[in-house]
Amino acid sequence: MASTLYSLLFLLSTLTLLHQPPLSAANLHSTAALFRSQPFSEPTSLPTADIPPTTFFEVTKPIPLPKTKPCSYLVLEHDFAYTYGKSPVLADYKPPTDCPSQNFARIVLEWTAACKGRQFDRIFGVWLGGVEILRSCTAEPRATGIVWTVKKDITRYYSLLMSNQTLAVYLGNLVDSTYTGVYHVNVSIHFYPADRSYGHSAVEYGELDNGYGFGSVADLILPISRTLPLNDGLWFEIENSTDVESKEFLIPQNVYRAVLEVYVSFHENDEFWFGNYPNEYISANNLTGVPGNGPFREVVVSLDGLVVGAVWPFTVIYTGGVNPLLWRPITAIGSFDLPSYDIEITPLLSKILDGKSHKLAFSVTNALNVWYIDANLHLWLDKGSDRTQGNLLEYSDSPLSLSLLSNFTGLDGLFITNILNQVIHFNGTVDAKTPSSSILSTNSLKKFTLDFYSDSIDKGNGTYDSVANVTLGIDATRQKTSKFGTSTSRLKNLQNGQGNMLVKGNLVVSGLGSTQQEYHYISDKSCYFRNICFLLTKLKTCDFLDALKIFD
Ligand SMILES: *[C@@H]1O[C@H](CO)[C@@H](O)[C@H](O)[C@H]1NC(C)=O
Ligand SMILES: *[C@@H]1O[C@H](CO)[C@@H](O)[C@H](O)[C@H]1NC(C)=O
Ligand SMILES: *[C@@H]1O[C@H](CO)[C@@H](O)[C@H](O)[C@H]1NC(C)=O
Ligand SMILES: *[C@@H]1O[C@H](CO)[C@@H](O)[C@H](O)[C@H]1NC(C)=O
Ligand SMILES: *[C@@H]1O[C@H](CO)[C@@H](O)[C@H](O)[C@H]1NC(C)=O
Ligand SMILES: *[C@@H]1O[C@H](CO)[C@@H](O)[C@H](O)[C@H]1NC(C)=O
Ligand SMILES: *[C@@H]1O[C@H](CO)[C@@H](O)[C@H](O)[C@H]1NC(C)=O
Ligand SMILES: *[C@@H]1O[C@H](CO)[C@@H](O)[C@H](O)[C@H]1NC(C)=O
Repeated sequence: MASTLYSLLFLLSTLTLLHQPPLSAANLHSTAALFRSQPFSEPTSLPTADIPPTTFFEVTKPIPLPKTKPCSYLVLEHDFAYTYGKSPVLADYKPPTDCPSQNFARIVLEWTAACKGRQFDRIFGVWLGGVEILRSCTAEPRATGIVWTVKKDITRYYSLLMSNQTLAVYLGNLVDSTYTGVYHVNVSIHFYPADRSYGHSAVEYGELDNGYGFGSVADLILPISRTLPLNDGLWFEIENSTDVESKEFLIPQNVYRAVLEVYVSFHENDEFWFGNYPNEYISANNLTGVPGNGPFREVVVSLDGLVVGAVWPFTVIYTGGVNPLLWRPITAIGSFDLPSYDIEITPLLSKILDGKSHKLAFSVTNALNVWYIDANLHLWLDKGSDRTQGNLLEYSDSPLSLSLLSNFTGLDGLFITNILNQVIHFNGTVDAKTPSSSILSTNSLKKFTLDFYSDSIDKGNGTYDSVANVTLGIDATRQKTSKFGTSTSRLKNLQNGQGNMLVKGNLVVSGLGSTQQEYHYISDKSCYFRNICFLLTKLKTCDFLDALKIFD
C-alpha cells in the first residue's frame, strides 16, 4: 500500500516570569522547595478508627462500555513498601481464554490502591511484555487513610492482550519512621465482550482513536523500553540536555502503518520545568540549588538519527506538587493517567522495512535530571502479503528556533513571588492517501495552559508560609476522516486551585486548599460534562453537575 503523508507541527510558547526573591540562603532554599512535591503531615494521634478513608479521583469522562458482563480478573495484588531501587513486581498475564466470548469491544485496566500514613507522591509504570500501558502518580496518603481507582481503556493494546505476557509494575517507594505510607495495590483487567446494543467489536468498527478502518488497532506492538531484569522502571532515564537514550528494534516486512506512542514524565530538577529559572537569572543572583535551564522543554524522537517527531508534554502537576492540599481529593489533570503522545512514523517505513534492525532514540532539549521516557511501536501488518513497499517522498525538519526573553530585577524583600503563565499551542495533521483517494486524515489542535501565582514568606528554621493559585487547562479538538466518515471531538478541561500552607522542613503541617474543575467533552457519539468544586476543609462537593449522554 502506497501512502503519502504530510505532517505539520507548530509550537508557540509564551512565558512570563517575574521574580522578586529574597536575600538569605534559607529563603532561596524555600524557593526551590516551593514547587517541589511534598507530603502532608497530619497528627497521628487523631482517633482514626471510625473515620473512613478519603477517596481521591481525577475528573475524566467515563469509558464507553457495552452492556455485556465483563470477564474480569485480578492480575496482581501487591504491597509496595520499600521498593525503591528494587526490581519491578512481576505477574503472569494470560488472556481470558475461559471467557464465553473472545471478541471484545473494550478492555479496561483497573488500578485500585489504598494507603495510610505519610508518604510522598510516587511515580509508577505498568508494562505488559515491556509495552507501557499506564504511567501514573500515587495519591498522597492521610493519617486516616485514602483509596483511589484509575480506570484506563487499554483496548488499543488488543493484540498484545491476546497472548501470554509478563506484567511488570515499578513503584519506587521508601518507607521509614517519617514516611510511613505503604501502597496496597490491586491491578485487574476487565474484558467486555462485544454485543448488539453497542455494535460489534470496537476493533472491527474502527471506533478507537487510531485507525485506518480495517483493523483499527495495531496488529503488533513492540516495546521501545529497557528490558527486564532491572532494578528500576523499564523507562529510559534522560539526565541532561545531551543525553540520548536509544533502543534497537526489528519489524516484520509487511508493515503498512507505524505509530510510535511515547510516554513521558519529568522529575527532580525538572519536575516543574515549566517554572525553572533562566540560567542568567540564577548566576546574576548567585543562587545555588535552584533548577535552571529556563522553562522550555521538547522531547525529540529520532529514527536512525533522523528526527521523526517531537513531544511538548502537558504540564502535569503530581499530587504533592505546589501544595498537596490543592489536589485532595480532586487530583490535577493527567496526574492519575499521564497522557502518552502519538507520532505517526508511516512516512519513514521505507527506511525500516529491510529486515534489518534500526534504532529509535530519545532526547530532551534543555533537560535537567531526570526524565523517564519510553515508547511503544504500534504496527499494522498487511495480512495479504509478506512484504510491503514504500518510499519517502519528501522530508524536512527545521531546527528548533527558541527565543527566551528574560526581564528581572535583583533580589529584594522578604517575599518570594512567582508568577508564571505558560501556553503551549500545537496543531498536528496527518494525511494518508493513495493516488486516487484519501485513507485517513486527522487534524488535532491542542492548547495547554498553566497560570501560576504564589507568594511565600520565610519564617526561619526551615519553615515557610505560602499561598498559591494555579490554573491548569487543556483545550483539544480532534477531527478524523476515514472510510467510516468524519468524526470530531473536543475536550475542554479547566482546573483552578487556591491554597495556603505552612511547611516545616519537608512536611506541610497545616493549610487549606480549594479546587474547581469544569470538564466538557463533546463528540459525534457522546458528550460528558462535569462541574465540580472542593471547598476548604470539608470533603464535600458543591455545584455538582455530572452528566453523560450517548447520542443515538
Ligand atoms: C485487593 O483485592 C483483595 C482481594 O480481592 C481485597 O481483599 C483487597 O481489599 C483489595 N485491595 C485494594 C487496595 O483494593
Ligand atoms: C499461557 O499460560 C497458560 C497458563 O499459565 C498456559 O496454560 C498456556 O499454555 C499458555 N499459553 C501459551 C500459548 O503459551
Ligand atoms: C549527561 O548524561 C550522560 C548520561 O548520564 C552522561 O554520560 C554525560 O556525561 C552527561 N553530560 C553532561 C554534560 O553532564
Ligand atoms: C554575586 O557574587 C559576586 C561575587 O562574589 C558579587 O560580586 C555579587 O555582588 C553577588 N551578587 C548578588 C546579587 O548577590
Ligand atoms: C522590564 O520590566 C520592567 C518592570 O516591569 C519594565 O519597566 C522594563 O521596561 C522591562 N524591560 C524590558 C527590556 O522589557
Ligand atoms: C491551530 O489551528 C487553529 C485553527 O485552524 C488556528 O486558529 C491556530 O492559530 C493554529 N495554531 C497554531 C499554533 O498554528
Ligand atoms: C529556631 O530553632 C532554634 C533551635 O531549635 C530555636 O532556639 C529558635 O528560637 C528557633 N527560631 C525561630 C525563629 O523559631
Ligand atoms: C488567589 O485566589 C484567591 C481566592 O480565589 C483570590 O482571592 C486571590 O485574589 C488570588 N490571587 C491572585 C494573585 O490571583
